[in-house]
Amino acid sequence: MRIALIAGNWKMNTTAAEATKLVREMLDRLEEATGVEKVLCPPFVSLAAVRELVKGSSVKLGAQNMHFEAKGAYTGEISPLMLAGLCEFVILGHSERRQYFGETDHIIGKKIVAALRNRLKPIFCIGEKLEENEAGRTKEIIARQMSQGLSKAKPSPDIVIAYEPIWAIGTGRAADGEQAAATIGFIRYTLSRLWNENVAQELRILYGGSVTSSNIAEFISQPEIDGALVGGASLNAQEFLSIVEQTAAIKTKQSAIRRQQIADSK
Ligand code: 13P
Repeated sequence: MRIALIAGNWKMNTTAAEATKLVREMLDRLEEATGVEKVLCPPFVSLAAVRELVKGSSVKLGAQNMHFEAKGAYTGEISPLMLAGLCEFVILGHSERRQYFGETDHIIGKKIVAALRNRLKPIFCIGEKLEENEAGRTKEIIARQMSQGLSKAKPSPDIVIAYEPIWAIGTGRAADGEQAAATIGFIRYTLSRLWNENVAQELRILYGGSVTSSNIAEFISQPEIDGALVGGASLNAQEFLSIVEQTAAIKTKQSAIRRQQIADSK
């Protein structure tokens, strides 16, 4: 059974002081939420400080990006080797990286390989633009992003996929739960074709795009959706805590029902 995952992508927000304040506000209640993996992705410069704060807790850390080379003359870049001791996850291929920093499926594919080689778990972001959605091209775009992004990677349950329709990011216009679950079902099907059914069933697939405490239940109550990648709402302690706590409650209930079904079928 897949363990639910809620990740907060803080993007280019919080100074080091703000980052530590935010973590202090959330830590105790995050620790109490069980049955869900909690991942905070602060800016690079706050990773070490946040790591000290969450040490010994069940809260995990992720970076928001990285270069694919281990070291070298790449001014301003951060390598997988540098992150390996600092965090467990790394967000790769976020649509903002694709849009503002020219990241292509090919580059993202190299980053995914580099992350896995350094035992970092990639949170691989995919999703279509509004015009692609309106033209009925969602599946085509996602299938391309997946086949190119994963072409060099070995099948691994350590990969997390985040389906983030670009038209839903930071717009307040989230997809609806059923729509997101249908696309995520397609993503799982595509994984089974690219790799195999076992990995497709093991790998976690998140929804991202205007997730808040008011709509998280709509996504999480879909068994196909394993969690969320939260942007804006992850910067507000009460919002993020509510998202994590609702997820813990709903997914714990779903797991109990699933276990009962398995027991009944024996
Ligand atoms: P918002 O939750 O602010 O829409 O951002 C989503 C996102 O891009 C998470 O990576």
